[in-house]
Amino acid sequence: MKALFLVGGLGTRLRPLTDRTPKPMVPVMGRPLLERNMEALKQHGIDEIVLSTCYRPEVIEQYFGDGSDFGLKIDYVCEEFPLGTGGAIKNCEKYFDDTFFVFNADILSNINFSEMLRYHKRKKADVTIAVTRVENPSAYGVIEYDADGYAYLFKEKPAPHEVVSHFINAGAYLFEPSVLRRIPAGRPVSVEREVFPNLLEQARKIAVYKGCNYWLDIGTPEKYIQAHKDIFEGQLHLPEMNFHERAVYSGPGTHISGTAVLRGPVYLGRNVRIEAGATVGPHVVIGDNSLIGKKCKIANSILWNDVVLEDGANLSECIVTDASIVDGTSRMKHVIYTPEMIKAAKHLAI
Ligand code: GDD
Ligand code: MG
Repeated sequence: MKALFLVGGLGTRLRPLTDRTPKPMVPVMGRPLLERNMEALKQHGIDEIVLSTCYRPEVIEQYFGDGSDFGLKIDYVCEEFPLGTGGAIKNCEKYFDDTFFVFNADILSNINFSEMLRYHKRKKADVTIAVTRVENPSAYGVIEYDADGYAYLFKEKPAPHEVVSHFINAGAYLFEPSVLRRIPAGRPVSVEREVFPNLLEQARKIAVYKGCNYWLDIGTPEKYIQAHKDIFEGQLHLPEMNFHERAVYSGPGTHISGTAVLRGPVYLGRNVRIEAGATVGPHVVIGDNSLIGKKCKIANSILWNDVVLEDGANLSECIVTDASIVDGTSRMKHVIYTPEMIKAAKHLAI
């Protein structure tokens, strides 16, 4: 079975994390979000993937290649200009001649894909949309559905006074290929604002699937930190880690000084070096080849790869992107570090 990921968005709300990294490549526990989502699909026997790219496609293609290193077959369809979510699906039409999954690429969930597929078939739907309940639906696509589980109304990003339901589009769909013929070609189309409402007008069946009990849209830095907290606390399980069984995971080549203190849960990548007297954790991820200097203190923070914390730095609820060097005098909470921003801050200090 095949799955299509929509990976062309700009990731504006996740800036500056997405300044150099497209949103699907933002690391979750040290591996790209997209890889995490593909690995979840593979567990359900879905191993043919089409990636609909637009923004920084080369970063994605360089990492995944033809998919063979990941046990997948991956095809790429790159847009010259953004076609929107519906236009992107239409643009990949030639790859699909059977029921297929479509995913927004910025979500983390524990959807049981096999069960969702069985549900879709049972409902004889043209499209099935996974829905999830959220407290504040204004940032999402609200869906109303009837007692039989079929959608009858879509309201994308409703103003607070327009909110009629707390069930929202979770960004995971099953499509019958016949639906593709109903999407206009060659122009931007929104699947949420145009394709779904049009299908309803044409009396097509859109079923809603409610079996998703963990769901998060990694749309903002706060949600990005939340995603890691949820994994550390076991609300979302990743295949190779269970923090209830083990407090600290570390990759090959990682060296921790005897006088450093690790307060789990903590996830360390490869070739990480933690120097004497440092305190790391709880809820800390440190990416590959990173150096944590003497007497540093880090809690509730995500460090990407090749990061250096100079001796004495103290970070809490921070995100530090690839190759950033954090000054030892830093005493920071809720800060995002990128190499560009560090340079800019130094420039200002002069
Ligand atoms: N190829 C391509 N081309 N992909 C696109 C384009 C495009 O022009 N525009 C957006 N995408 C991709 C994004 O990369 C993302 O993976 C997905 O489509 C959805 O776009 P977002 O920009 O993240 O949309 P959103 O978060 O505001 O809203 C969507 O997701 C919500 C759930 O997280 C909608 O589908 C809502 O209805 C939904 O509730
Ligand atoms: Mg989104």
